[in-house]
Amino acid sequence: MSERTPMIEMRNVSKHFGSVIALSDISMQVQAGEVMCLLGDNGAGKSTLIKTLSGVHRPTEGELLLNGESVRFKSPAYALDAGIATVFQDLAMIPLMSITRNFFMGREPTVGWGPLKRIDWKRADRIAMQEMSRIGIDVRDPSQPVGTLSGGERQCVAIARAVYFGARVLILDEPTSALGVKQASVVLRYIAKARSDGLAVIFITHNVHHAYPVADAFTLLKRGGSLGTFRKEEISREEVLNMMAGGAELESLDAELAEFQQSDRQQQQSSGANAPSLSQAPST
Ligand SMILES: Nc1ncnc2c1ncn2[C@@H]1O[C@H](COP(=O)(O)OP(=O)(O)O)[C@@H](O)[C@H]1O
Ligand SMILES: [Mg+2]
Repeated sequence: MSERTPMIEMRNVSKHFGSVIALSDISMQVQAGEVMCLLGDNGAGKSTLIKTLSGVHRPTEGELLLNGESVRFKSPAYALDAGIATVFQDLAMIPLMSITRNFFMGREPTVGWGPLKRIDWKRADRIAMQEMSRIGIDVRDPSQPVGTLSGGERQCVAIARAVYFGARVLILDEPTSALGVKQASVVLRYIAKARSDGLAVIFITHNVHHAYPVADAFTLLKRGGSLGTFRKEEISREEVLNMMAGGAELESLDAELAEFQQSDRQQQQSSGANAPSLSQAPST
């Protein structure tokens, strides 16, 4: 394995909620410039894991390391200051407020001093537009309400914001699950871009077609425990599918559908085989 210091690491982390053991003895490492995909059924502990990394929960046991240094976050704001940006599924955005407003969320650049200090909207708008166009989204009007953007574009505002404010670790909890194919591909492309910019990315999804193309490694959780981390070279798309929530069900559904198709085809063939005899019928 690599000798590099991981950008983010969990060492023997457990998280208990009273008598519920949501995470038990999890160790996981993600390097800079790498995408780690977290897999596991509902209730496996995926959200608890990322909430522990992003300062929402404190680990009951174990240690978090950021770039080799032991860290303990009192709140998500501390994790964000340290460079761990998390995009939760229920995005913290205000639909009626502008793209610029949502991009800066209270961290707008200012001009002036003392009582004359005010937000530099021109500059704020320019930065927001620039950062959005860097990820391939052309915003015509940055004062446009965020609610008028598509779901994928809104996810991208959240990701662009994280990158702009210097995130080193980007955590995404099912960012593509509510999106159509085209919108999801925008988000996936941006995940790939964050990786090539050198961020460590942790990505939760239930969709193997979203996970497999962008992931470098997969960590599988089951009932709060880790079944291990697998490098992409070691594992096929089918194996990943089997590890995902509902993977087994999807596979048997696939098999059923294939059977239907086959019997359809057989029916067509046999009716096709009858056709010549039918067309011959009048001549006899
Ligand atoms: N705040 C909490 N209090 C008590 N139990 C919790 C809390 N958060 C999560 N859990 C429990 O921890 C387990 C893992 O949940 P979660 O991390 O949300 O799973 P996943 O995201 O993989 O679906 C579940 O059994 C869940 O009920
Ligand atoms: Mg979850």
